[in-house]
Amino acid sequence: MATILVDPRRQIDAIHPNIYGNFIEHLRRCIYGGIYEEGSPLSDERGFRRDVLAAIKSLKVPNIRWPGGNFVSAYHWMDGIGPKDERPRKMELAWNTVESNRFGTDEFIQFCREVGTEPYICVNMGNGTMDEAQHWVEYCNGVEDTYYANLRRKNGHDEPYDVKYWALGNEVSGHWKIGHKPAEEYAALAYEYAKVMKLVDKNIELAACGSFEQNASDMKWNQVVVEKLADIADYLAIHMYVGDWYGGYYEYMAASEHIEKFIRAARGIIDVGVYYSESGKKLKIAFDEWNVMYSHDPEHPRHERYTLQDALAVGMFLNAFLRHADAIKLANMAQLVNVIAPIHTNTEGLFLQTIFWPLQLHTLENGTIALDAHWDSDCFETEQHGKVPYLDASASYQPDLGRISINLINRHRTDALPVVIENQHGNLKSDGTLFEITGEDPIVMNGFGEENVKLVKRELECPSNPFTVTLPPHSISMVQIYLG
Ligand code: AHR
Repeated sequence: MATILVDPRRQIDAIHPNIYGNFIEHLRRCIYGGIYEEGSPLSDERGFRRDVLAAIKSLKVPNIRWPGGNFVSAYHWMDGIGPKDERPRKMELAWNTVESNRFGTDEFIQFCREVGTEPYICVNMGNGTMDEAQHWVEYCNGVEDTYYANLRRKNGHDEPYDVKYWALGNEVSGHWKIGHKPAEEYAALAYEYAKVMKLVDKNIELAACGSFEQNASDMKWNQVVVEKLADIADYLAIHMYVGDWYGGYYEYMAASEHIEKFIRAARGIIDVGVYYSESGKKLKIAFDEWNVMYSHDPEHPRHERYTLQDALAVGMFLNAFLRHADAIKLANMAQLVNVIAPIHTNTEGLFLQTIFWPLQLHTLENGTIALDAHWDSDCFETEQHGKVPYLDASASYQPDLGRISINLINRHRTDALPVVIENQHGNLKSDGTLFEITGEDPIVMNGFGEENVKLVKRELECPSNPFTVTLPPHSISMVQIYLG
């Protein structure tokens, strides 16, 4: 049994559409053989896979981060511009492969324009230089008669790309990453990078590289970075992956507690960071890598096949982003195609993984304002977090439609969960909508020609206020109700 109370007056903040962003990295078949497959009958004349473009468009992705990830820490963007056949083939050390450089900045921007998304570029703070970062901003955004802006024009692109979002390196705290630096060194250097990048274009927004591990040294890293970059950066970038790593359904289903703890820690550090900012500015959170991931071995292809329970974990991330909508203003699922991804291709087609559906549901059907919903539910016991409610939830509001969207995850493995829904401000219209994602078992997957998990939409009767909706076991639902 569970209860959830919503009130359209009890608002957290506007939900930034950028929280539904995604990420493409030069990693295995994400780009080459994923979104970009030259010579394939499924591709257009530019090499973009038409079927993949259509699937991405159906997700309405607001921004896409590129080119890495670990890849960026040894990426030199100048290798990826100009005539394709003249671009250098290079040893790629982050993922131990060869980079053809046939997909570079111009192709990335073209791809973003095609799918209607904002580009978000991460600069190389591994073995790259400050000059490279500065010139990259000029290449993309320069409007004057200057060398790198002219290079873009020479490559056939007169209009500036207006890339607004930039990240200052990726996971530099990892000692095994290319160009790792201690926190103080990174922060001092990132400050200088930020300075020149903003001198080239004062309108850009910058994400400082924060924690990707949930441990004491990464929290310390965040503190150093936030203190140093409080005035010049706009976001603290954090990363987190979860998975069924502890061998138990309910331990995995407590992932929401890990996510919540991690976000709260980042918020706390950012709150303290305000005291280091001369202007009192507060950094926003860019949760610019998040997902379910199993293959930690760098040799493993990372082409995950996701289960229904993984979709529940994705739903938990998205619920957390809404509950912290006042702090999280950018987020990127990692990654979009093939590699830890909602879209999976082969040379003949694609299928949509289980995790595609909660992402699409949240992106398309939430309102613009996050609501501070209150809920209560029976609990399950876990070793890591003690009692955890079966219900995980969030809510949003769309004022022009008078619509409240309530996101509900029933984590009970075997039992349905009746949820009493109460709107605490005004009456409800008698009709609503119910979206549901579930399947026979928490470990069912999708595959080519095999759609075991998908999004189902139904009319909903809301006969009274409060009223009860019964959620199937191991399911994600969204209840949409209308003020009347
Ligand atoms: O998304 C896969 C990898 O995970 C990224 O390259 C890296 O930033 C993270 O550790």
